[in-house]
Amino acid sequence: MSVKRQSDRDAAWAANPVGMPVLALGLARVRRGSIFQLVLFAAIAAVITTLVAVLIPWLPTPASREAGRIDFAYWFATVIAIGVFSVVAAVLAYSVIHFRAKPDDDSDGPPIHGHTTLEIVWTAIPAVLVTAISIVSAIVLAQNSHAGTDPLVVKVKAVQFAWQFTYPNGKSFGFLELPKDRHVKLEITSDDVIHSFWVPQFSQKQDAVPGQVNSIVITPDRLGTYPVICTELCGLGHALMRSHATVVTPNQFATFMTKGATAGPPGLAVFQQNGCASCHTFTPAGASGKIGPDLDKLKEWAAAAHRGTLTQFIHESIVDPGAYIAPGYSNVMPPNFGSEIPAKQLDQLVQYLAQGAN
Ligand code: CUA
Repeated sequence: MSVKRQSDRDAAWAANPVGMPVLALGLARVRRGSIFQLVLFAAIAAVITTLVAVLIPWLPTPASREAGRIDFAYWFATVIAIGVFSVVAAVLAYSVIHFRAKPDDDSDGPPIHGHTTLEIVWTAIPAVLVTAISIVSAIVLAQNSHAGTDPLVVKVKAVQFAWQFTYPNGKSFGFLELPKDRHVKLEITSDDVIHSFWVPQFSQKQDAVPGQVNSIVITPDRLGTYPVICTELCGLGHALMRSHATVVTPNQFATFMTKGATAGPPGLAVFQQNGCASCHTFTPAGASGKIGPDLDKLKEWAAAAHRGTLTQFIHESIVDPGAYIAPGYSNVMPPNFGSEIPAKQLDQLVQYLAQGAN
């Protein structure tokens, strides 16, 4: 593209592609045509980036009030970012077109003296914008940590590689069930290594750290079932350390609290509460984990292991998982189920597995 020269000074600026756009913007002598071009470039950049921001589903649809606020903070910052990007892109495009160095011109440009007003403006505007983002974020954080006067407190325990959710009535489940429109305070901890609790539709993440209780507040506002994901690399089964969170009506939740969700043999409840499903396949329990041996084939495993009767083998495998490792698997099962599961429940679990095994 040819370079049009208005004056000797323009010719000198033309050799200085860095200093020129600064002055071109800052000085009042910028021509009308230049302003029109800059505005046009900025508008094009703004339209393109707005389409990218709006048309691509970057975030899941929020399912909690906290997530809604986080989304607001995200869009607030995005709008500002689009504005800043558009201005920068317009000046860049204008400069590339108008101040291109000639191929044979290797000379330095003329020294440029600063422009105080311009520098004050481009320092003050970003300072105001960043301060605005800080204020919005601080308000969102403060509101999101507010649990109200009567939150439902659910204790969340992470273990390799399962989640356990314990309700105020003492019942535990391997999944999360929450009432709509009530503050829920999750008190999150871990039994072994660091995990991290994440439901994308709730927007918040919280680390599960051994010996420490971290809490987050969730106020579900949309019915549905959402994935619970471990979002901290925690070992071999990390990628499969998943559960689900279901948001139900207050009435459904009251029923869930009195009756529980698990109708079926008592061993099934023990199986679910201890997260066996995250690592093992067991068709009677609807489990399809792939970390540990397939429990549908327990009889085959027991026959190959030669370690007593089927129930003796199952019992030993739960309380002392390292005693015998099935061929092709690693010793990654938590060793503390023997002390974690009360003897009666352990017995129910062993019977349940023995009966369901082929
Ligand atoms: Cu638990 Cu990753």
